[in-house]
Amino acid sequence: MLTRRTLMKGALVAGAYAGGMSLAGQLGKPASAKAATTLLTRRTDALITDKGPTRAAMTYGDAEVPPVLRMRRGVPFALRLENGLDEPTTVHWHGLRIDNRMDGVPFLTQPYVYGGDGFDYAFTPPDAGTFWYHPHCNTLEQMGRGLAGVIVVEDPTDAVFDAEIVLNLRDWRLGGDGQFIAQFKPRDAARAGTFGTVRTTNWRQTPQYDAPAGGLVRLRIAATDVTRILTLNVDGADALVIAADGNPTADRFKLDHLMIGPGQRLDLALRMPDSEGAIAALMDLRGTKPATLVTFRATGASLKRNLQDLPALSANPLSEPDLSAATEIPFILSASAEERPKDGICGSLGYNFWAINKVPWADDSGDPTAPLAEMKAGRTYIFNVENPTPQVHPLHLHGLVFKPMNSNKQALRPHFSDTYLILPDEKVQLALVADNPGDWVFHCHIIEHQKTGMTSYVRVT
Ligand code: C2O
Ligand code: CU
Repeated sequence: MLTRRTLMKGALVAGAYAGGMSLAGQLGKPASAKAATTLLTRRTDALITDKGPTRAAMTYGDAEVPPVLRMRRGVPFALRLENGLDEPTTVHWHGLRIDNRMDGVPFLTQPYVYGGDGFDYAFTPPDAGTFWYHPHCNTLEQMGRGLAGVIVVEDPTDAVFDAEIVLNLRDWRLGGDGQFIAQFKPRDAARAGTFGTVRTTNWRQTPQYDAPAGGLVRLRIAATDVTRILTLNVDGADALVIAADGNPTADRFKLDHLMIGPGQRLDLALRMPDSEGAIAALMDLRGTKPATLVTFRATGASLKRNLQDLPALSANPLSEPDLSAATEIPFILSASAEERPKDGICGSLGYNFWAINKVPWADDSGDPTAPLAEMKAGRTYIFNVENPTPQVHPLHLHGLVFKPMNSNKQALRPHFSDTYLILPDEKVQLALVADNPGDWVFHCHIIEHQKTGMTSYVRVT
């Protein structure tokens, strides 16, 4: 019988390791030709609340909690998805700049994978950093029930930390009995999205991890919730932002009330307190009540490390946009008339509330709308994005990375990203080199917005 304690240990193994560089996890071993590993989607009971198991959660792999997939930059990776669910699914590798055929978007890049069927994914991750994986079919239901895991792409030349802890931050829509309730309310989908009722880190409420006193810990944070935007801060220790959305930041800076939205990642260098037993905490300060997401307890004698001693992370091989020869493309977010879309295999929510350039996405249909833009491979484009809606939207582009510039609302640091959190009334420019051919989805990562129209795609030929 699994006790809460052994499960907690399992979560720790999936979520953290201490130092060292040969880290191929249970599913992360690079395979060359045929997929040597499988990733099974299945139903599971989850120990999220103290009300006993939550029934009919969904997970990847054999453990309760989806595994951290470890890959290496430039090394081929292969994995066979086995769908053990009674509904179709796919896997999208959020932030990885890979072959379009491996991108996991039903109809656009691959057929959906029926229950009992499988699909072979194989690609070579070009960039090191923190990424994540999740379905792109019936996404609100499947992600809401658990299908979201973190990807770590390692670079052997990266700075070695005293410990590394992977943090999958997400909420669950559970009733007082610890069982799932309706995933969304239509009136909330038309606003900020429907919030979860139970907040977790690696599927546990405020877990605690041990880390060496006075040591430097790499925290790899992924915001995988379907709705919630966070304002992150660390209490009881110093923390530097070293990477965001998979890419090293140009400069490191002290973490100070940083906002991240669904789909975004943040890598922090945390300097643990010196005295044994001292606690540092990762907090969400958005909203009225501060929430403690996870705590870290200092163990052993202080290693007396210094944040300033950390070498820089190596940059990823990204193309710098050529602003002198850029073509501008407008993208205007809007609410849309409330008309019912036709039901889709991948689960329509039954409403259109949102649109990009006035077109609501024809949800998961075999006959999607035309691409909103066609781009020529190798050329620079600037997406002029405007958000006249009263909501914040984490906009995610598949397969390519952009540099946000010239916001009328935020001071931006030069940085490559795949997900931009656009504020109400914000206008921003996302500059990119169209260096990966294919049809790439561009959508809001508040999944209710994505599924009720705020989705489109661009084509690179
Ligand atoms: Cu995180 Cu369309 O994806
Ligand atoms: Cu949105």
